[in-house]
Amino acid sequence: MMKSVWIGAFGAFLVGSSAFGQQAPSPPPILTQAARLLPVLASKGMVSSQERQASAVGVDILKRGGNAVDAAVAVGFALAVTLPRAGNLGGGGFMMVHLAKTGETVAIDYREIAPAASVPTMFLTASGEPDPKLSRDSGLSVGVPGTVRGLALALEKYGSGKFTLAQLIEPSVRLAREGIAVEEDLADSLPQAMGRMSRYPSSMAIFARDGKALPRGSMLVQADLANTLEAIRQQGPDGFYKGRVAEAIVSATREAGGIMTLDDMSNYKALIRQPVTGSYRGYTLASMPPPSSGGVHLAQILNILEGFDLKAMGAGSAASLHVLAEAMKPAYADRATFLGDPDRVKVPVKGLTSKAYAAKQRAKIDLAKATKADDIKSGDPLPHESDQTTHFSVVDSEGNAVSNTYTLNFSYGLALVANGTGVLLNNEMDDFSAKPGAQNAFGLVGSEANSVHPGARPLSSMTPTILFKDGKLFMVTGSPGGSRIISTVLQVIVNVIDFEMNLAEAVAAPRIHHQWKPDALAVEPGISPDTLKLLADRGQNVRPGAASGSANSILLQGGWLQGAADPRQRGTAAIGY
Ligand code: GLY
Repeated sequence: MMKSVWIGAFGAFLVGSSAFGQQAPSPPPILTQAARLLPVLASKGMVSSQERQASAVGVDILKRGGNAVDAAVAVGFALAVTLPRAGNLGGGGFMMVHLAKTGETVAIDYREIAPAASVPTMFLTASGEPDPKLSRDSGLSVGVPGTVRGLALALEKYGSGKFTLAQLIEPSVRLAREGIAVEEDLADSLPQAMGRMSRYPSSMAIFARDGKALPRGSMLVQADLANTLEAIRQQGPDGFYKGRVAEAIVSATREAGGIMTLDDMSNYKALIRQPVTGSYRGYTLASMPPPSSGGVHLAQILNILEGFDLKAMGAGSAASLHVLAEAMKPAYADRATFLGDPDRVKVPVKGLTSKAYAAKQRAKIDLAKATKADDIKSGDPLPHESDQTTHFSVVDSEGNAVSNTYTLNFSYGLALVANGTGVLLNNEMDDFSAKPGAQNAFGLVGSEANSVHPGARPLSSMTPTILFKDGKLFMVTGSPGGSRIISTVLQVIVNVIDFEMNLAEAVAAPRIHHQWKPDALAVEPGISPDTLKLLADRGQNVRPGAASGSANSILLQGGWLQGAADPRQRGTAAIGY
């Protein structure tokens, strides 16, 4: 359920000092608006994440004088303990950092990489067909983890200097050692993971009792994970990438049929990249560049949409949903052709995000009729694998911001804990294209541009994004959701900018998704049957589906920070002060 955590908000009213040193209007305008849902308000700083204890860890760092990056690093480590299905040490991700003082916005790439012994055919059977078991369910599916180096790099380059890595890890060591109650999302997700986890005694020893998921209300104590975090606390990233922990990770992957080596671990590097930039109706955005497809296609779809009067069509109307779907299709088609690791292939980012290119694609959209996707293999099911990426947003009192999305790929990744480390390993290698045209677990197809190569980063859809208005911070957003990440982030933005929803409404509103192939329009519950019929009448292949995404976001408006944690998962929390 939506958490309306008002920690510190009333204090903020009384004090009257607002975000970024200006006087806060009182009362905040958002309270005077008619809305079904209201965001959390705060004047100084905010963390919006998928798990309450992790949000609280981040806000505590902000209150103690840390900046948004310090808080984000602490949240990143905390989620590895409190949201083990997605928060991680054994996976990878992307962090967008905006620094108010210089106006600089950078993208930190800590995506997993393919081990050095990887080859393009490693996920094919002898007859040359993709074998999803290899890419999703074996030691070969594990990419070299990037999270620990990524978080350490963020702190080193952009932290306030007031906190050491050791200090920021300390709350996570405590949470792992003392244990956390199995409730909310943990209690919901663990039983579903048992099938895959039961193959690995090292995982069952932590997450199960008598062969069953730890029951709701019991305690999850992660002593081995606490020791791993302690090793990082004492030695920095070397405590993870070298020595005992690295050896255990390499052994675990190799015993499960993988090829990772100690050199792969010690050679891992997180990178700083230039964000993808774009504009939409007077707002500018900075988002994740390749090896994520997120920023490129978010910018591309917004460019296409800019030529339509969505506001006049109305939120949730068949007209606006049809246009959204039609704008998504060409972008996902381009994703399948052009996107890959930019250090290996040339990705035409400039062309894909240009207004001129969008105008050409917009011209092909028929407001009355759905465009059919080319070469559709009939009967392709909508992807339904449970992804478990997680997104969090942080803003501090200086206006610095972090938008971070990281992942193990599936829920609990490969579901394999490297023995003695407490570290769940990812199965991110499935995000490569096993061969041109092959689908990954999310039904996404790719080309040679996203084929497996030693040291390459698999293509992602993660879309951590920061928006600006008149050069000033406006919004921090992102989401999990596999292939649906891009369309989720898109709709949160459109809901705020076009439909003028407050952030809580924008995040909660039902979403749609079209990824070109399969040619199906996935719709969340909450869209009326009449609307679905109107969409079907236009030729959209409507497929009602489950809710997806967890777009934990922050918005700055009228001198106040609005926070919204996505109501689609339990235990999410936006906490401000
Ligand atoms: N593993 C999902 C993504 O990176 O897009």
